[in-house]
Formats: sequence, C-alpha cells, structure tokens
Amino acid sequence: MKFRFLFCSLLTLAILSLAPLSGVIAATKYSIDNPPKVPEKYVVGMEKFRDLCSSCHGKWGNGTPQGPPLMHGFYKPSHHADPTFYRAVLKGVQAHHWRFGDMPPVPGATRKDVDVLLPFIRWLQRENGIY
Ligand code: HEC
Repeated sequence: MKFRFLFCSLLTLAILSLAPLSGVIAATKYSIDNPPKVPEKYVVGMEKFRDLCSSCHGKWGNGTPQGPPLMHGFYKPSHHADPTFYRAVLKGVQAHHWRFGDMPPVPGATRKDVDVLLPFIRWLQRENGIY
C-alpha cells in the first residue's frame, strides 16, 4: 500500500515536471520544412515577425532555444490580449511562464510594427487551432 502511494506520487511528480517542457516542444502545424501559405494581407506582418521576433520565437512561432512558442494556449487572445504584445515588444517581459529568461525590449521596434505583425501572429494562431 505504502509502496503504491510512493509510486503514484513519483509518477505525478514526473508528469508535472514534464508539463512545461512539452509546451516547448509542442509540434505546430507549420515548420521551416512545412511553411504555411500566408494570405497576401499578412505578408508584410510575416516579414516583420521574421525580422524582429523569429530569432527567439521561431520562424512560424514554434519557439527556439531562445524563446517560447507563441503558437501556444498561453498566448491566445483570452490569455494574452493584444496589449500584452505591445507591452512585450516595447518594454520587454520579465520571465514568468518559462525558463528562457527575460525578453528584452525589441531594439528599433515601434507600435506600428506591432500593428502590422500582430494580425499575422493571430492568423497563424488560428491556423494552428490555438483558438
Ligand atoms: C531576444 C529574444 C526575444 C525576441 C527577439 C522576442 N522575444 Fe518575445 N519573448 C522572449 C522570451 C524569452 C519570452 C518569455 C518570457 C516568459 O518567461 O514568460 C517572450 C515572451 C513574449 C510574449 C509574452 C508576454 C507576456 O506578457 O507573457 C509576447 C507577447 C512576445 N514575447 C512577443 C514577441 C514579439 C511580437 C516579438 C517581436 C517583435 C518578440 N517577442 C521578440 C524572447 C524574445
């Protein structure tokens, strides 16, 4: 009986400690090898995202060793509404969800850049079935 309890506790611990990791490796619908067909109206946003964000968040938002995937339930509009994106880009983010460290303010990025790249991120999130 005691043994069983210990086993269950260890199993729960193991699953819990894996949970944040599984978010990082979460497969997204698109990757470098399988790019989406981006609608015309999001192409400029895609280019901005590629220039300003993809070095950490991955070309299609699927994450890199430097930053988390934005194609993740954490970042859907009901959890991280649009103002959080403006704040993150202009002011930076203190690490709280992951273990990548802080996100510094993105050098040279403006509100206008976010106006353009955010609709692309939201489109890609919908494509990935995030919301
Ligand atoms: C130098 C690496 C880096 C770059 C470049 C970067 N980010 Fe991040 N970003 C991070 C890290 C790391 C986190 C995770 C912080 C945490 O632990 O919650 C993050 C978190 C975020 C969040 C979540 C904010 C919150 O309140 O939790 C948003 C939104 C975001 N990034 C958007 C962007 C956008 C848009 C760009 C491009 C304009 C960008 N990031 C560029 C590293 C980066």
